[in-house]
Amino acid sequence: MPAIPEKPVLLTGAAGNLGRVLARELAAMGWTLRLTDIHSFPEALPPRAEFIRADLNDGVALLRQAEGCGAILHFGGISVEQPFETVFGPNLRGLYHVYEAARREQARVVFASSNHSIGFHERPQGNEARIDADCAFRPDGYYGLSKAYGELMGRLYWDKHGVENVNLRIGSCLPEPLEARMLATWLSYADLVRLAAAAVMAPRTGHCVIWACSANPASFWGEDHRARIGWQPQDTAEAFRARIAGKLSGDPVVERYQGGAYAGMDYTRAQPSPRDHFALDEAAGSAGS
Ligand SMILES: NC(=O)c1ccc[n+]([C@@H]2O[C@H](COP(=O)([O-])OP(=O)(O)OC[C@H]3O[C@@H](n4cnc5c(N)ncnc54)[C@H](O)[C@@H]3O)[C@@H](O)[C@H]2O)c1
Repeated sequence: MPAIPEKPVLLTGAAGNLGRVLARELAAMGWTLRLTDIHSFPEALPPRAEFIRADLNDGVALLRQAEGCGAILHFGGISVEQPFETVFGPNLRGLYHVYEAARREQARVVFASSNHSIGFHERPQGNEARIDADCAFRPDGYYGLSKAYGELMGRLYWDKHGVENVNLRIGSCLPEPLEARMLATWLSYADLVRLAAAAVMAPRTGHCVIWACSANPASFWGEDHRARIGWQPQDTAEAFRARIAGKLSGDPVVERYQGGAYAGMDYTRAQPSPRDHFALDEAAGSAGS
């Protein structure tokens, strides 16, 4: 079991699906948590935890909540594809408030980023190379774009202010994988909890990016900075293969891209053949654009 953080840890999005898992499990490990969300905490508060209801748009409230904290697990905000105006406040302005609070407290940020920040990368076929964490951002919607912004905010605050941050590019974090794509993207709750704990407890992180999926042989993803925090996933989606391998969308856009259904939402581009599409992107890359 990892050691206990010296200072309290602030958890945003505490009333959400992953927030509740983290609140329960980290408290059970003996951590002192400060929980916050725009909605009430729907369960009994875990031991040593306090809950403050607030909007991420309220920067003063965030500064107060973060007082004395050594790390901020930032899991709050819009967590699915939504119109730009809906995403903007919680995910862009709210993220700025989180980073300003971290800067003042000299706290580390652990950011719940998403695979949708890179969702327009094509899925690797057969032995094709997996993309590494330093790949280009290719967001598949406004939600994914806000996650790319969040990772870049981390880059800025590390370079300019020395605020450490660990960006978790979460795949599909659910009790069980539900469809074929999740053979690649699934992250078990237990692996998430170990990942969040390692990200907080690592002695030094700088700015780092981690593919947050379980030990899935079908993963789309390659190298990242996990060695820096000493995390290795222990679960695997393979255990569910028989049940989900046949669960495909039937939509060629959804099946082509890593972001799956998010890439297919509101997709209006006339479909070139995959080869033409790839050739255009390669030409743009070689021209240095
Ligand atoms: N669950 C996954 O598979 C997955 C995958 C990739 C990334 N993520 C990221 O992980 C985080 C948690 O995901 P989740 O599945 O628990 O989502 P969730 O929607 O259940 O939780 C998000 C929480 O943020 C809160 N929130 C929304 N707007 C807010 C605001 N303005 N002020 C304060 N709180 C606000 C919500 O009330 C909610 O409780 C999110 O940032 C999400 O983008 C999750």
